[in-house]
Amino acid sequence: MSKTAIYPGTFDPMTNGHINIIQRSLELFDKVVVAVAASAGKSPLFELQQRVDLAKQALCTHQQVEVIAFDGLLVDLARQQHASIIVRGVRSIADFEYEAQMAGMNRQMMPELETIFLTTHSQWADLSSTLVRDIARHHGKISNFVPAVIEQAIMEKLS
Ligand code: COA
Repeated sequence: MSKTAIYPGTFDPMTNGHINIIQRSLELFDKVVVAVAASAGKSPLFELQQRVDLAKQALCTHQQVEVIAFDGLLVDLARQQHASIIVRGVRSIADFEYEAQMAGMNRQMMPELETIFLTTHSQWADLSSTLVRDIARHHGKISNFVPAVIEQAIMEKLS
């Protein structure tokens, strides 16, 4: 039976760290649904549709990846997608505490939903979307941290 995993996040913007998690997930699952959350509470720089479009462009060479938007509970999305696995990247102990809490609450709401944690590659362990946006705002170089298409979009957005 083919296994689909959902990789949810705000992706404002998607970084090389996220892409590394997606590539590694593809070794484990038949299909990865990258679910871009509205996350209105985070006041994202990019609109939801823009984040979806950028993620699609960044991942266009990966046939087994689907990028979708969602604005509701992750458990409802998992049911809609007939997926029973959530993938999350964990960079640090601090991430783990937050992630374990979310995984636990999702399990309370949907017991059959399993959350799998992948440790972030050490190269990207200090990376975050917020830091990328901040470096770009201050005219720093972000080409090592995001795909070229996303670098371009950030530059245009901030210009
Ligand atoms: N490499 C580099 N950075 C990474 C990373 C990796 N592998 N994994 C995560 N990050 C960074 C992100 O860039 C992001 O940085 P930021 O805070 O500066 O934006 C941060 O870690 C965490 O972001 P992300 O992975 O996008 O998750 P999130 O916390 O923004 O999103 C959701 C969490 C969307 C999964 C969660 O809020 C959710 O499920 N929402 C739906 C509503 C719901 O069901 N709520 C109940 C949950 S119990």
